[in-house]
Amino acid sequence: MKKFCVIGNPIEHSLSPKLHNFWLKKNKIEATYEKKLIVKEEIPKLIESIRKSEINGANVTVPFKNLVIPFLDGLSSEAKKTNSVNTICIEEDKIVGHNTDIVGFELALRYVNYDVKRKRALIIGAGGVSPSIILALKNMGCENIFLTNRTFEKAEKIKETFNDITIQKWGDIPEFDMVINATSVGLNNENFDLELNKFGNDKFFYDVIYNPSETKFLKEAKLSGYKTENGRMMFIYQAHQSFALWNKLLPKIDEETIEIVK
Ligand code: ATR
Repeated sequence: MKKFCVIGNPIEHSLSPKLHNFWLKKNKIEATYEKKLIVKEEIPKLIESIRKSEINGANVTVPFKNLVIPFLDGLSSEAKKTNSVNTICIEEDKIVGHNTDIVGFELALRYVNYDVKRKRALIIGAGGVSPSIILALKNMGCENIFLTNRTFEKAEKIKETFNDITIQKWGDIPEFDMVINATSVGLNNENFDLELNKFGNDKFFYDVIYNPSETKFLKEAKLSGYKTENGRMMFIYQAHQSFALWNKLLPKIDEETIEIVK
Protein backbone atom coordinates (compact mmCIF):
# COMPACT_ATOMS: atom_id res chain seq x y z
CA MET A 1 0.00 0.00 0.00
CA LYS A 2 1.53 3.31 -1.08
CA LYS A 3 1.36 6.36 1.17
CA PHE A 4 1.12 10.01 0.19
CA CYS A 5 0.56 13.12 2.28
CA VAL A 6 0.42 16.89 2.36
CA ILE A 7 2.47 18.75 4.93
CA GLY A 8 1.66 22.24 6.15
CA ASN A 9 0.88 24.39 9.16
CA PRO A 10 -2.03 25.01 9.42
CA ILE A 11 -3.27 22.05 7.40
CA GLU A 12 -6.80 21.49 8.70
CA HIS A 13 -8.39 23.40 5.79
CA SER A 14 -6.61 21.37 3.07
CA LEU A 15 -8.84 19.64 0.52
CA SER A 16 -5.91 17.71 -0.99
CA PRO A 17 -6.69 14.45 0.87
CA LYS A 18 -10.29 14.51 -0.34
CA LEU A 19 -9.25 15.06 -3.95
CA HIS A 20 -6.32 12.62 -4.05
CA ASN A 21 -8.21 9.85 -2.24
CA PHE A 22 -11.07 10.30 -4.72
CA TRP A 23 -8.70 9.87 -7.70
CA LEU A 24 -6.85 6.96 -6.04
CA LYS A 25 -10.12 5.13 -5.54
CA LYS A 26 -11.44 5.95 -9.03
CA ASN A 27 -8.26 4.59 -10.58
CA LYS A 28 -8.12 1.53 -8.30
CA ILE A 29 -4.69 2.46 -6.94
CA GLU A 30 -3.98 0.93 -3.56
CA ALA A 31 -2.76 3.93 -1.65
CA THR A 32 -3.72 6.42 1.01
CA TYR A 33 -3.26 10.20 1.14
CA GLU A 34 -3.40 12.07 4.43
CA LYS A 35 -2.68 15.50 5.86
CA LYS A 36 0.19 15.97 8.28
CA LEU A 37 0.49 18.95 10.56
CA ILE A 38 4.20 19.47 11.17
CA VAL A 39 6.58 22.07 12.54
CA LYS A 40 9.68 22.99 10.58
CA GLU A 41 11.98 20.94 12.84
CA GLU A 42 10.16 17.84 11.58
CA ILE A 43 11.05 18.38 7.90
CA PRO A 44 14.25 16.22 8.00
CA LYS A 45 12.31 13.34 9.57
CA LEU A 46 9.67 13.54 6.87
CA ILE A 47 12.27 13.57 4.08
CA GLU A 48 13.91 10.54 5.72
CA SER A 49 10.56 8.69 5.59
CA ILE A 50 10.41 9.43 1.86
CA ARG A 51 13.98 8.20 1.41
CA LYS A 52 13.07 4.94 3.13
CA SER A 53 9.90 4.66 0.97
CA GLU A 54 7.71 4.76 4.07
CA ILE A 55 6.08 7.70 2.28
CA ASN A 56 5.98 7.60 -1.53
CA GLY A 57 5.35 11.26 -2.24
CA ALA A 58 4.30 14.48 -0.53
CA ASN A 59 2.63 17.76 -1.29
CA VAL A 60 3.96 20.80 0.50
CA THR A 61 1.94 23.84 1.46
CA VAL A 62 2.28 27.04 3.51
CA PRO A 63 4.75 27.76 5.12
CA PHE A 64 7.12 25.01 3.94
CA LYS A 65 7.30 25.49 0.15
CA ASN A 66 10.79 26.94 0.32
CA LEU A 67 11.82 25.59 3.72
CA VAL A 68 11.93 21.99 2.37
CA ILE A 69 14.40 22.87 -0.39
CA PRO A 70 17.70 22.42 1.55
CA PHE A 71 16.69 18.84 2.42
CA LEU A 72 16.06 17.67 -1.15
CA ASP A 73 18.55 16.06 -3.57
CA GLY A 74 17.36 17.98 -6.60
CA LEU A 75 14.84 20.44 -8.00
CA SER A 76 12.97 20.73 -11.28
CA SER A 77 14.00 23.84 -13.21
CA GLU A 78 10.70 25.53 -12.36
CA ALA A 79 10.99 24.78 -8.64
CA LYS A 80 14.50 26.23 -8.79
CA LYS A 81 13.40 29.36 -10.61
CA THR A 82 10.53 30.07 -8.18
CA ASN A 83 12.34 28.78 -5.07
CA SER A 84 9.12 26.91 -4.32
CA VAL A 85 8.30 23.22 -4.02
CA ASN A 86 4.75 21.89 -3.70
CA THR A 87 5.41 18.27 -4.74
CA ILE A 88 8.11 15.86 -3.60
CA CYS A 89 8.86 12.67 -5.58
CA ILE A 90 11.43 9.92 -5.61
CA GLU A 91 13.20 9.69 -8.96
CA GLU A 92 15.92 7.06 -9.36
CA ASP A 93 16.65 7.08 -5.61
CA LYS A 94 16.86 10.87 -5.54
CA ILE A 95 14.35 13.04 -3.68
CA VAL A 96 13.26 15.72 -6.11
CA GLY A 97 11.15 18.84 -5.58
CA HIS A 98 8.68 20.00 -8.24
CA ASN A 99 6.41 23.00 -8.51
CA THR A 100 3.02 22.17 -10.05
CA ASP A 101 1.43 25.46 -8.93
CA ILE A 102 2.86 27.04 -12.08
CA VAL A 103 1.14 24.71 -14.51
CA GLY A 104 -1.90 24.72 -12.18
CA PHE A 105 -2.32 28.45 -12.72
CA GLU A 106 -1.66 28.19 -16.48
CA LEU A 107 -4.27 25.47 -16.96
CA ALA A 108 -6.78 27.34 -14.78
CA LEU A 109 -6.53 30.34 -17.13
CA ARG A 110 -6.81 28.09 -20.18
CA TYR A 111 -9.88 26.47 -18.61
CA VAL A 112 -11.67 29.84 -18.73
CA ASN A 113 -10.13 30.70 -22.12
CA TYR A 114 -8.33 33.73 -20.82
CA ASP A 115 -5.45 34.74 -23.09
CA VAL A 116 -2.83 36.82 -21.25
CA LYS A 117 -0.87 37.85 -24.34
CA ARG A 118 -0.82 41.64 -24.72
CA LYS A 119 -2.58 41.96 -21.35
CA ARG A 120 -1.41 43.88 -18.30
CA ALA A 121 -1.49 41.70 -15.21
CA LEU A 122 -1.37 43.09 -11.68
CA ILE A 123 -0.42 40.68 -8.92
CA ILE A 124 -1.29 41.64 -5.35
CA GLY A 125 0.97 39.92 -2.84
CA ALA A 126 4.59 38.83 -2.71
CA GLY A 127 4.16 35.69 -0.62
CA GLY A 128 4.89 32.07 -1.42
CA VAL A 129 2.67 31.67 -4.49
CA SER A 130 3.58 34.89 -6.30
CA PRO A 131 6.75 33.67 -8.10
CA SER A 132 4.75 30.71 -9.47
CA ILE A 133 2.10 33.06 -10.85
CA ILE A 134 4.71 35.32 -12.41
CA LEU A 135 6.43 32.38 -14.11
CA ALA A 136 3.10 30.99 -15.36
CA LEU A 137 2.12 34.39 -16.81
CA LYS A 138 5.51 34.70 -18.51
CA ASN A 139 5.23 31.14 -19.90
CA MET A 140 1.90 32.15 -21.43
CA GLY A 141 3.35 35.23 -23.08
CA CYS A 142 2.27 37.99 -20.70
CA GLU A 143 4.79 40.81 -21.04
CA ASN A 144 3.36 43.41 -18.70
CA ILE A 145 3.44 42.19 -15.13
CA PHE A 146 3.00 44.50 -12.15
CA LEU A 147 3.52 43.42 -8.58
CA THR A 148 2.38 45.22 -5.46
CA ASN A 149 2.76 44.15 -1.86
CA ARG A 150 2.00 45.76 1.49
CA THR A 151 5.64 45.16 2.46
CA PHE A 152 7.52 46.74 -0.45
CA GLU A 153 10.83 44.94 0.22
CA LYS A 154 9.26 41.54 -0.38
CA ALA A 155 8.16 42.61 -3.86
CA GLU A 156 11.65 43.96 -4.54
CA LYS A 157 13.11 40.61 -3.54
CA ILE A 158 10.97 38.86 -6.19
CA LYS A 159 12.15 41.37 -8.78
CA GLU A 160 15.70 40.10 -8.21
CA THR A 161 14.57 36.88 -9.93
CA PHE A 162 12.08 38.33 -12.40
CA ASN A 163 13.75 41.58 -13.34
CA ASP A 164 11.34 42.60 -16.10
CA ILE A 165 8.34 42.98 -13.77
CA THR A 166 7.30 46.40 -12.46
CA ILE A 167 6.93 46.96 -8.73
CA GLN A 168 4.18 49.34 -7.63
CA LYS A 169 3.96 50.98 -4.23
CA TRP A 170 1.05 49.70 -2.12
CA GLY A 171 -1.99 51.78 -3.07
CA ASP A 172 -0.50 52.94 -6.38
CA ILE A 173 -2.65 50.94 -8.81
CA PRO A 174 -1.51 50.90 -12.46
CA GLU A 175 -3.89 50.42 -15.38
CA PHE A 176 -4.43 46.68 -15.76
CA ASP A 177 -6.52 44.06 -17.60
CA MET A 178 -6.23 41.32 -15.03
CA VAL A 179 -5.70 41.46 -11.26
CA ILE A 180 -4.73 38.48 -9.16
CA ASN A 181 -5.12 38.26 -5.40
CA ALA A 182 -2.11 36.21 -4.31
CA THR A 183 -2.35 37.18 -0.64
CA SER A 184 -4.09 35.50 2.26
CA VAL A 185 -6.52 38.43 2.47
CA GLY A 186 -10.06 37.13 2.04
CA LEU A 187 -9.65 33.87 3.92
CA ASN A 188 -11.49 35.47 6.84
CA ASN A 189 -13.95 37.66 5.00
CA GLU A 190 -11.67 40.68 4.83
CA ASN A 191 -10.60 42.81 1.85
CA PHE A 192 -7.86 45.33 1.06
CA ASP A 193 -8.38 49.00 0.82
CA LEU A 194 -7.17 49.27 -2.78
CA GLU A 195 -8.90 51.21 -5.52
CA LEU A 196 -9.19 48.54 -8.17
CA ASN A 197 -12.21 49.74 -10.11
CA LYS A 198 -11.01 53.05 -11.45
CA PHE A 199 -10.12 51.93 -15.00
CA GLY A 200 -12.87 50.75 -17.38
CA ASN A 201 -15.08 47.70 -17.27
CA ASP A 202 -13.31 44.97 -19.18
CA LYS A 203 -11.29 43.53 -16.32
CA PHE A 204 -10.69 40.04 -15.01
CA PHE A 205 -10.42 39.48 -11.25
CA TYR A 206 -8.74 36.24 -10.20
CA ASP A 207 -8.39 35.04 -6.62
CA VAL A 208 -5.99 32.24 -5.73
CA ILE A 209 -8.22 31.52 -2.71
CA TYR A 210 -10.87 28.86 -3.37
CA ASN A 211 -12.24 28.45 0.15
CA PRO A 212 -14.32 30.59 0.67
CA SER A 213 -15.38 30.25 -2.95
CA GLU A 214 -16.17 33.93 -3.19
CA THR A 215 -13.95 36.30 -1.26
CA LYS A 216 -14.90 39.94 -0.74
CA PHE A 217 -12.35 40.75 -3.47
CA LEU A 218 -14.38 38.66 -5.96
CA LYS A 219 -17.79 39.60 -4.58
CA GLU A 220 -17.13 43.32 -4.96
CA ALA A 221 -15.63 42.82 -8.44
CA LYS A 222 -18.69 40.87 -9.53
CA LEU A 223 -20.98 43.59 -8.20
CA SER A 224 -19.04 46.08 -10.33
CA GLY A 225 -19.65 43.88 -13.38
CA TYR A 226 -16.19 42.38 -13.80
CA LYS A 227 -15.35 38.84 -14.88
CA THR A 228 -14.22 36.80 -11.83
CA GLU A 229 -12.68 33.42 -11.07
CA ASN A 230 -11.57 31.74 -7.86
CA GLY A 231 -8.59 29.41 -7.31
CA ARG A 232 -10.53 26.15 -7.50
CA MET A 233 -9.28 25.02 -10.92
CA MET A 234 -5.72 26.05 -10.07
CA PHE A 235 -5.95 23.86 -6.98
CA ILE A 236 -7.37 20.93 -8.96
CA TYR A 237 -4.77 21.20 -11.73
CA GLN A 238 -1.80 21.41 -9.35
CA ALA A 239 -3.09 18.28 -7.59
CA HIS A 240 -3.65 16.61 -10.97
CA GLN A 241 -0.02 17.17 -11.96
CA SER A 242 1.27 15.93 -8.58
CA PHE A 243 -0.86 12.81 -8.98
CA ALA A 244 0.60 12.23 -12.45
CA LEU A 245 4.17 12.59 -11.16
CA TRP A 246 3.61 9.95 -8.47
CA ASN A 247 1.27 7.52 -10.20
CA LYS A 248 2.22 8.00 -13.88
CA LEU A 249 -1.45 8.51 -14.62
CA LEU A 250 -3.60 11.57 -15.31
CA PRO A 251 -6.99 11.07 -13.67
CA LYS A 252 -10.14 12.49 -15.20
CA ILE A 253 -11.25 15.96 -14.16
CA ASP A 254 -15.02 15.84 -14.46
CA GLU A 255 -17.99 17.50 -12.76
CA GLU A 256 -17.74 15.04 -9.88
CA THR A 257 -14.10 16.08 -9.30
CA ILE A 258 -14.95 19.77 -9.37
CA GLU A 259 -17.85 19.20 -6.93
CA ILE A 260 -15.37 17.84 -4.37
CA VAL A 261 -13.65 21.19 -4.16
CA LYS A 262 -16.87 23.24 -4.03
P1 ATR B 1 4.48 34.32 3.38
O1 ATR B 1 4.53 35.83 3.40
O2 ATR B 1 4.99 33.67 4.63
O3 ATR B 1 5.00 33.72 2.13
P2 ATR B 1 1.93 33.90 2.31
O4 ATR B 1 0.62 33.44 2.91
O5 ATR B 1 2.44 33.17 1.16
O6 ATR B 1 2.95 33.94 3.47
O7 ATR B 1 1.81 35.42 1.90
C1 ATR B 1 1.02 36.28 2.53
C2 ATR B 1 0.78 37.47 1.60
O8 ATR B 1 -0.42 38.13 2.00
C3 ATR B 1 1.89 38.51 1.66
O9 ATR B 1 2.01 39.11 0.40
C4 ATR B 1 1.32 39.48 2.71
O10 ATR B 1 1.82 40.78 2.63
P3 ATR B 1 3.12 41.20 3.51
O11 ATR B 1 4.29 40.69 2.74
O12 ATR B 1 3.06 42.67 3.58
O13 ATR B 1 2.95 40.53 4.85
C5 ATR B 1 -0.13 39.48 2.29
N1 ATR B 1 -1.00 39.97 3.35
C6 ATR B 1 -1.40 39.31 4.46
N2 ATR B 1 -2.25 40.07 5.19
C7 ATR B 1 -2.39 41.24 4.51
C8 ATR B 1 -3.16 42.44 4.72
N3 ATR B 1 -3.96 42.58 5.78
N4 ATR B 1 -3.07 43.42 3.81
C9 ATR B 1 -2.29 43.28 2.73
N5 ATR B 1 -1.55 42.19 2.45
C10 ATR B 1 -1.60 41.19 3.33
